Amino acid sequence: MSDKIKDTPYIRVENLKKYFPTKRGLLHAVDDVSFSIQKGETLGLVGESGCGKSTLGRCLIRLLESTAGSVVLHDEKTGINTDVTKVSASVMKELRKKVQIVFQDPYSCLNPRLSVWELIAEPLIVNSVFPDKEAMKKRVRELMSIVGLAERLENSYPHELDGGRRQRIGIARSLALSPEFIVLDEPVSALDVCIQAQILNLLNSLQKEFHYTYVFISHNLSVVRHVSDRIAVMYLGKIVELADYKEIFANPLHPYTQALLSAIPVAKLDVQKDRIILEGDVPSPIEPPECCRFAGRCRYCKDVCKQDTPLLEEVKSGHFVACKFALRA
Ligand SMILES: Nc1ncnc2c1ncn2[C@@H]1O[C@H](COP(=O)(O)OP(=O)(O)O)[C@@H](O)[C@H]1O
Ligand SMILES: [Mg+2]
Repeated sequence: MSDKIKDTPYIRVENLKKYFPTKRGLLHAVDDVSFSIQKGETLGLVGESGCGKSTLGRCLIRLLESTAGSVVLHDEKTGINTDVTKVSASVMKELRKKVQIVFQDPYSCLNPRLSVWELIAEPLIVNSVFPDKEAMKKRVRELMSIVGLAERLENSYPHELDGGRRQRIGIARSLALSPEFIVLDEPVSALDVCIQAQILNLLNSLQKEFHYTYVFISHNLSVVRHVSDRIAVMYLGKIVELADYKEIFANPLHPYTQALLSAIPVAKLDVQKDRIILEGDVPSPIEPPECCRFAGRCRYCKDVCKQDTPLLEEVKSGHFVACKFALRA
């Protein structure tokens, strides 16, 4: 990781918010998050279902309009910074080639009437990348080979393929326009465990070869561990801890991260682990009170935790945590 740290990050997210209006009030799906990502880095984003991971991922590439804040992309070659949340539609159209997303369930987002070849060619056709048909054919074959899809599958349809192959189509589509930044939203959650490993290995080797920057979203900390350089833990719209992946596992400081880690099964029989059972319910994300969102479920909760929201602060070099008592907990 250290060799990847540079002065200007590739992506700088500042005070990003996404509120959804609902009948009962504003739902704070992403509530004031700030972080940065280096070029070629994988940031793992982990947390329970509904905590705002997908919403954050979509705001990063403007599949959703943010309510407030900024997402600044830095172009190393030109030195130009672009705030994805504010650029015009025409600039965003160009930027779309650089920023891509891979979804959890490739089946639901692949048109069942298109063949593998047509699905992978689609982004190239839509963006008129190759007026020359032969060049496009070559590129589609190249993409199929990059993601490990045999050429004989080019006339198959999604329903004829297993989940792993369908996800390979989703990945090939996201790579078609040679992106720089890819949001991977639970890309292996719908897959069998052995296929999960194959897809994770594929994503890792693609990153080595093409230097992609990833945000890897998962509700499963043990999956995130295999791919991330750093991990951000989300709880109810907030990032509550962010550190190098080894540090998160060796020295979790937020009581929520500690609980998540304690829930990971250990393979060795002689290793005893005390599982931290979280009590209380996740509070509603609609108009949440100004206090620590985790207070109601935290075994270390003190009065002050119910009075105001703790900021995400760097308590050790590169280790950020939003808990007033993190180092003493
Ligand atoms: N389009 C939407 N309209 C209203 N609420 C939404 C919408 N999308 C997501 N939410 C809500 O925002 C919160 C975060 O959702 P999401 O980002 O999908 O979480 P995660 O990906 O971590 O499971 C949830 O409470 C969800 O119900
Ligand atoms: Mg999600």
